Amino acid sequence: MTASRRKFMVAVGVGTLAAQIKSNALAQALNRTGLKDYYAKDFKIGTAIGSDILENNDEALAALVAREFNAITPENCMKWERIRTADEGWNFKDADKFVDYGLKHKMYSVGHTLAWHSQIPDSVFKNAKGDFISADQLKKKMTNHISTLVGRYKGKLTAWDAVNEAIDDGPGNPMRKSHYFNIMGEAFIDHTFHVAHETDPKAHLMYNDYNNEQGGKHEACVELLKRMQKRRVPIGGVGIQGHWSIDGPTPEEIEKSILNFAKLGLRVDVTELDIDVLPQVWNLPTAEISTRFDYTPARDPYKNGLPKEIEEKLAKRWEAIFKMFIKNREHIDRVTTWGVSDDVSWLNDFPIKGRTDYPLLFDRKRAPRDAYFRLIDLKK
Ligand code: G3I
Repeated sequence: MTASRRKFMVAVGVGTLAAQIKSNALAQALNRTGLKDYYAKDFKIGTAIGSDILENNDEALAALVAREFNAITPENCMKWERIRTADEGWNFKDADKFVDYGLKHKMYSVGHTLAWHSQIPDSVFKNAKGDFISADQLKKKMTNHISTLVGRYKGKLTAWDAVNEAIDDGPGNPMRKSHYFNIMGEAFIDHTFHVAHETDPKAHLMYNDYNNEQGGKHEACVELLKRMQKRRVPIGGVGIQGHWSIDGPTPEEIEKSILNFAKLGLRVDVTELDIDVLPQVWNLPTAEISTRFDYTPARDPYKNGLPKEIEEKLAKRWEAIFKMFIKNREHIDRVTTWGVSDDVSWLNDFPIKGRTDYPLLFDRKRAPRDAYFRLIDLKK
C-alpha cells in the first residue's frame, strides 16, 4: 500500500485506526483534504455534476465532490433540452440546485452550454409550418435564451462553455453544418459570446470542443479562434474536452495544442476529461453523441473487473497526462473530469450501450483508483 493510499484511508475513515481517531480534530481536518488541495497551486480540479446529486439527492456523492473538487460543471441540466420546456418556457429546478451547491462550497462553477447542436429540439429552428426560421428570428431567440440563462446566474458562475462543438470531424474539419450554422453561419458563435458578455461581463467565456487538441481539428480550431479574435468576439479561453483513450493522444501532442492556444492569448481549461479503456472497434475517434454501435461481449472485455496490468497502464496514463498539465500550469485554469465515479460515466453507454468502462478517478464503489494516488504522489 502506498503512503498516499494509507493516508487517504485514514482521512476518510476506513479501518480500525481511522475509527478510533475519527472524532479527533486532525482526522476532521484530513477529511477535508482532497485532490483539489494537492493541486491548489496548479489549477482547479473539477467534476461534472449529474442526476445522482441533482435528482437522486445522493448525499455521500455530494460530500465526496466537496472533499475532492473545487470546480463543477452541470453534466446535462443546463442544456436546452433540459432547461427549456416543450413550449419554450423554463425549468430551472436542477440548474438552481447546481448553482446553490457551487455557491455553498465556493467552487469555480461553469455553465454548460449556451449554443450546442445536440440536445436541442429541431422545433427551436423551425416555424409552425415546419420551415426553418430566418437568421434574424434565430438571433432573437438566442438573445432571449442566453440573456435569461446567463442573467439568472450572473455573478454566481465563474465561466461558461459558451459555444460547444462547432467544428466538424470530417475531412478538412469544416464548420459543423448544424441548424445554428446553416441559418446564421459563423455569426451564431459571435452572437452567443456577445450576448453572454453583455449579460455578465465578468464571466470567463470559452469555446469548448472534443479532439481540438489533435491533428486537423486542432488546426481548424486555432483558425476559428483567430477569426473570432479578428472580429473582436469577447472570448477568454478554450476548452479542451479531453475525452481520451488509454492509448492516445500522447501528452506531447496535447501539450503542443495547449501552447498553441496560449499563444493566442487564451486561457486553457480541460473541461471533460475521462480515459476510456475499452476497445475502439470503430474508425472514427469521436465524442459526437449520435454515434452508435451494436453490443457484443467481445466489445465489453472488462465486465467483471479491470485486470491489474490494465489498471496499472491506466494509472501511468493519468500520471503522464497530469505531469504535462503541471508543467504547463501557467496556461491552465482548471482540469475537470467528466463525472466522479465509473458507475455514472456516459462512456458506459457510448458509443455502445451497456458496457463496463473505467474512465474516472473513482471506481464503482466510489473508492479512488490507483491513478488517483499517482496524481497525489506527483505533488509530493
Ligand atoms: O435521464 C434520462 C432517463 O430518464 C431516460 O430513461 C434515459 C433513456 O435513454 O435517458 C436519460 O437521459 C440521458 C442522459 O444522458 C442522462 O443519463 C440521455 O438519454 C443521454 O442522451 C444523455 O447523455 C448525455 C450527453 O452529453 C448528451 O446530452 C451525457 O449524460 C453527457 O455526459 C454528455 O455530455 C457531453 C457534453 O455535454 C458535451 N461534450 C461531450 C459530452 C459527452 O457526450
